Amino acid sequence: MKFHVMTLFPELIESAASTSIMGRAIESGLIEVNAVNIRDFSKDKNRRGDDYTYGGGAGMLMQAEPVYDCYRSLKLKSNTPVIYMTPVGEVFSQDKAEELSKYDELVFLCGHYEGIDERVLDKIVTHRISIGDYVLTGGELPSLVCMDAISRLVPGVLGNEESARTESFDDYLLEYPQYSRPDEWEGEKVPEVLTSGNHKLIEEWRLEESIKRSKKFRPDLYEKWASSHPEYFEKKEKARKKALAKARRAERKALKAEEGLK
Ligand code: ADE
Repeated sequence: MKFHVMTLFPELIESAASTSIMGRAIESGLIEVNAVNIRDFSKDKNRRGDDYTYGGGAGMLMQAEPVYDCYRSLKLKSNTPVIYMTPVGEVFSQDKAEELSKYDELVFLCGHYEGIDERVLDKIVTHRISIGDYVLTGGELPSLVCMDAISRLVPGVLGNEESARTESFDDYLLEYPQYSRPDEWEGEKVPEVLTSGNHKLIEEWRLEESIKRSKKFRPDLYEKWASSHPEYFEKKEKARKKALAKARRAERKALKAEEGLK
């Protein structure tokens, strides 16, 4: 996967991308990050790429020409997505990360100041993506967020164990709580089931915890999960009926024993 980032601050992209898992993936050649300075394409003697907005209003706008020249210098394949990071866009999600991870290369365009001249956006941008309903000072951090989420889906970037965990989020549930050694810390013990060695029970406990958390913190995700997993509720209902029947049988037996005593 090759990421091109069109930005006024390439050093910010390079330093963040060169650390941790993304850094390791770059070193091993699984991903490549090409941060290009839009300012290098300015024809202004002071390398400026911004100007006042027509119609008035506070702040400066990034001009069309340097952005367009920067884009053309990338020499992209014809179907390469060009993603403009903006709060006026579709909110980024795991599904979007999956979709974008299928491409060989992606372009992130980072705006600054009041944004970018709309004419160049209309000409080159294929996706407008927001990372949430708040306004940041530029598109660099949002593009790093997207690159991070996409990189971890590139085969080989994560180990098998870690990648399996993505699937549980794909499935709309939040992750269950996790614990490491020691088994008692500040008087708090690790839930007993996790040290039982019973994998079936552990799996059931984790699913129940994921459901509880999703219901509490992200009811929207829980609803999505619930509507696509009717079998979970059928199984629960069956187990409930079975337990009820068992309790009734025990009750009848106790009653009979009592009558026998009389
Ligand atoms: N640029 C500024 N704020 C942003 C946001 N919330 N998402 C994406 N790009 C942005």
